[in-house]
Amino acid sequence: MATQVGSNNKRKILVTSALPYANGSIHLGHLVEYIQTDIWVRFQKMQGNECYYVCADDAHGTPIMLRAQAEGISPEQLIHDTSIEHQADFKDFSVKFDNYYSTHSNENRFFAETIYNRLNDAGHISKRVISQAYDPEKEMFLPDRFIKGECPKCGAADQYGDNCEACGATYSPTELKNAVSAVSGAKPIEKDSEHYFFKLPDFESMLKQWTASGHLQDEVSNKLQEWFESGLQEWDISRDAPYFGFEIPNSRGKFFYVWLDAPIGYIASFKNLCDKQGIDFDAFWESDSQTELYHFIGKDIIYFHGLFWPAILHGAGFRTPTAIFSHGFLTVDGQKMSKSRGTFIKARTYLDELNPEYLRYYYAAKLGSGVTDLDLNLEDFRLRVNSDLVGKVVNIASRCAGFIKKKFNSTLSDNLSEAELFNQFVQAADPISEHYEKREFSKAVREIMALADLANQYIDEKKPWQMIKEEGREQEVHDVCSMGLNLFRVLILYLSPVLPVMAEKSCDFLNMKNVSWDDIKTPLTGHKINKFKPLMMRVEEDKVQAVIEASKEELKLIEDKESSTSKEPSTSPLQTDPISEMINFDDFAKIDLRIAKIIKAEHVEKADKLLQLTLDLGGETRNVFAGIKSAYKPEDLEGKLTVMVANLAPRKMRFGVSEGMVLAAGPGGEDLWILNPDDGAQPGMKVK
Ligand code: MSP
Ligand code: ZN
Repeated sequence: MATQVGSNNKRKILVTSALPYANGSIHLGHLVEYIQTDIWVRFQKMQGNECYYVCADDAHGTPIMLRAQAEGISPEQLIHDTSIEHQADFKDFSVKFDNYYSTHSNENRFFAETIYNRLNDAGHISKRVISQAYDPEKEMFLPDRFIKGECPKCGAADQYGDNCEACGATYSPTELKNAVSAVSGAKPIEKDSEHYFFKLPDFESMLKQWTASGHLQDEVSNKLQEWFESGLQEWDISRDAPYFGFEIPNSRGKFFYVWLDAPIGYIASFKNLCDKQGIDFDAFWESDSQTELYHFIGKDIIYFHGLFWPAILHGAGFRTPTAIFSHGFLTVDGQKMSKSRGTFIKARTYLDELNPEYLRYYYAAKLGSGVTDLDLNLEDFRLRVNSDLVGKVVNIASRCAGFIKKKFNSTLSDNLSEAELFNQFVQAADPISEHYEKREFSKAVREIMALADLANQYIDEKKPWQMIKEEGREQEVHDVCSMGLNLFRVLILYLSPVLPVMAEKSCDFLNMKNVSWDDIKTPLTGHKINKFKPLMMRVEEDKVQAVIEASKEELKLIEDKESSTSKEPSTSPLQTDPISEMINFDDFAKIDLRIAKIIKAEHVEKADKLLQLTLDLGGETRNVFAGIKSAYKPEDLEGKLTVMVANLAPRKMRFGVSEGMVLAAGPGGEDLWILNPDDGAQPGMKVK
């Protein structure tokens, strides 16, 4: 990935995280993103780069309008209250924005209008009449998520939008049987209205090039190439009143769709910062900008950031992003966050019981530069934080501090006794900073912990607590403990992007000012230090449990309408719904599990995960696409028996229709096993 180097060698960098919706609380899933970005930004600042981190609340759209109505307050009041809550959560997790703003701002209105006018003048906007579901009682058009009815395939009741949670079928919301508006309960009608479209296909060649030239992670770039094959569609960017958003210039009663002005909020928040601090805005946004621009986002919103956004920026004469960094979704104990299991954990619920730096450390220890999901395993979380941070890092300081205070007047030795060992610590700066730069935080953490092990070994070997009892070894004790604290200091500097609070406390203890990467190589000698106070407590199991219990309690307090109406629909095929719920026994009993024999297994052209299987169900054959290519060669599968879900509704996929599902288990990648029944099984047999 190209990085521009400014005249004084210091890079100018603008960084964003996705803008959280203004109608919900920040939860631990969101924090994967904000913590990841914050670590990267803190690292850049430590390097002395000119780096700005901006964000905002995403304040517009139907769900926010309806939520405000339901609460009997104005949308302005709702987004104001939410903004305060969000900012308190971020602050307490040490997510430090240079500016936190709102998409409902004058700056954002200005840039949304400017961008729209430029696109319109250049002929990139088209208008046409479309027909949509309309609530005649509430007098508003209904987004898919606000229509519910019975699934046209399986008949399950209370299904929202365009897919059935019971059978997985996808359909158009107009196909729902006995459909009603989720807002008023009225029967929706079809109504015509003129909509405005952004002509994405105008940018096909620009985008094909852009998405393939190092601005995206490889897996994302590959995914986008697939989307080109299915053809780029014009994008509907208008919504009819009533709508909480910005009215489109010269278009009474037509508003910008929330997803049009949301990313423009990055520009608006930065502009607001520039005006406050006298930063040169144009240098960051003009089309030939020499600065760097990075967007951290979740994998569910890649479509917006990888296609629409660069096209819009390009079409309106702004610079395009240097790179888009997407990350995977959070799972807790291996499963999607779940309200009923108490693993849908809000930022505040966590903060009420646990130290935020535990989570920052744990996420860092697991984050890489890819798009894979990240699992918060609660047991592992506790053990890892206790063993690494408390057991290894803090332990170094607490073993050395007492002697320095009691025996040596709180002053470090003039002598750095083990120059070589210290040097080894200093030399690690390059690989560690490279890992940070590449967002390979888990690799950085691994290097740092290996050094922590060395520091502890050194102290274990020297045993200052024994030496101190021996005649004439005072100087040695002084040297060893001073060495220990100098090694601790280097470790803390390396960890400070991850653990800013612990770093600050350590700075107080070591009596040093805020530090940069360059200070690492200069040890502290003959230096007075302050009293040692415990830097971090152990993670207590009952506190973790208390967070889970409190999260379950919240479930009882909120009406559980939220999951279906709180999020704007996303068009991304990589979409992951973070909310999953329990099924009851009747639901389970509906699943028809059968033994199937794999009679043919073949590669699927252009699919990176799928194999096409022909299954024999005791006479009947089925065509099934299975995502097990990472684990099996087709030839190894032929002739094997497996277990399949035989009554899964056929599902149309890009490569053909899949008529069922084979069961496999494992963490993924190569470690994925299809279920292999015993030899006695016969194709077609029911699995009990
Ligand atoms: N408002 C849009 C983004 C507009 S950006 C111009 C949105 N908001 S969100 O609140 O739903 O999500 C904000 C960010 O948090 C997104 O990048 C999203 O991917 C991320 N995450 C939300 N839930 C998440 C998990 N469970 N796990 C990891 N990241 C998650 O999308
Ligand atoms: Zn169904």
